[in-house]
Amino acid sequence: MNGKLAINGGPRTVPDGLKKRWPEITAEDKAAVLAVLERNVLTGVHGPEATGLERDWAAFTGSKYALSFNSGTAAIHSALFAAGVGPGDEVITSAFSFSGSFHPILHQNAVPVFVDIDPRTYNLDVGQIEAKITERTRALLPVHIHGLPADMDEILALGQKYNLTVIEDACQAHGSTYRGRNCGTIGAMACFSLNATKNLSGGEGGFINTDSEEYWERAKMIRTFGEKVLEEKEKIRPYYSFTIGWNYRTQELPAAFARSQLKRLPQYNAIAQRNGQYLSAELGKIRGLLPPYVPDDRTTIYHKYRLRFDPQALGLKIPAPDFRNRLIDALEAEGVEATLWHVTPLPSFPVFQRLNEGYVQGAPWLPKGEPPRVQYRPQDYPEAQRLMDESIIVNTEPYPIYVQSLELMEHYVVAFRKVFDNLDEVLG
Ligand SMILES: Cc1ncc(COP(=O)(O)O)c(C=O)c1O
Repeated sequence: MNGKLAINGGPRTVPDGLKKRWPEITAEDKAAVLAVLERNVLTGVHGPEATGLERDWAAFTGSKYALSFNSGTAAIHSALFAAGVGPGDEVITSAFSFSGSFHPILHQNAVPVFVDIDPRTYNLDVGQIEAKITERTRALLPVHIHGLPADMDEILALGQKYNLTVIEDACQAHGSTYRGRNCGTIGAMACFSLNATKNLSGGEGGFINTDSEEYWERAKMIRTFGEKVLEEKEKIRPYYSFTIGWNYRTQELPAAFARSQLKRLPQYNAIAQRNGQYLSAELGKIRGLLPPYVPDDRTTIYHKYRLRFDPQALGLKIPAPDFRNRLIDALEAEGVEATLWHVTPLPSFPVFQRLNEGYVQGAPWLPKGEPPRVQYRPQDYPEAQRLMDESIIVNTEPYPIYVQSLELMEHYVVAFRKVFDNLDEVLG
């Protein structure tokens, strides 16, 4: 049935010309960027586009404050600083995320402590957090991976019990909701990324959201060399540094672009949900495929559509990662955008295995030559590893599902059926 696989010379399933490249750039986006060039105000602590973007994003999420940054990583770093995380402190986060979750912890000379994932939601397993809390733990950094919110009520309860600041890594979750609350408004602070792959894109950029004036003020100082730059007094900026600081501001051009894109974020998220639900309904009918689980109390924006497979149900006689790679090759040949995103848990990265490539003098892991307090054993994260072995992403960064037609998704489903009807060919 369905003919020979394209990988073996058969016809390609997905017709050309249907895929839309991300980010979608409209005439309005171009006009917004051009208007900045015409205004010729390209930077500023209170540039009109940067502050406009902050107002628009605070209104969209329902946060009291939104502060713009030049990346999600810079936003997380500044949030950790604002929360008082310092050298030797520990911050608990998920073993399954992007490097941008743990680097900001290291930037504060603090120690990342990783938790394995819940195999159903792919977010950090809240049942394993408490055992990782020590007297040095200062903050919890749950990640809403692929746009699905983490178990925030349990995490907030732990934060309260142990006096830990909860910072959401919402870098993949622009517009996702948890028990009726918007991601970005649940923790004491939340951080977003606006890099070009995200459902909301500025090319690059980021935000901290918070309702706390104190965190907002601190983060704002850190963002510009530790200065207190008051809007009305900007003309006489004294350049005094009150704290250590960085140069983490966004610029007017990406801010204008993101502001224009933000107008269409609800539309893109709606497309993501329609396509995600359609793929799950159809691919879930194929034996051995496990679509992403979305609990009833939350919504996802399918920043990435991760599809899992069950090696036993498929009767695989080869290692799951080998099948995973062959499956991607077969799907790509049919014209499906399919890829990998991270293949091992974060704590297995060389930086954590070597513990000598942080700051000088062994920091942050080996303060004053003491033995490391935290061990990073890749085998301690079996669920994260199993997920990465047994799943693929059904989209690529230039062609995410949040901008594609249902027609394209229908072709994807036909391609999947063809590949799974001819599994022997994939395996052979
Ligand atoms: C989960 C997560 N955390 C942090 C980041 C870092 O954001 P950025 O790339 O904007 O620095 C990203 C973005 O790629 C991310 O996906």
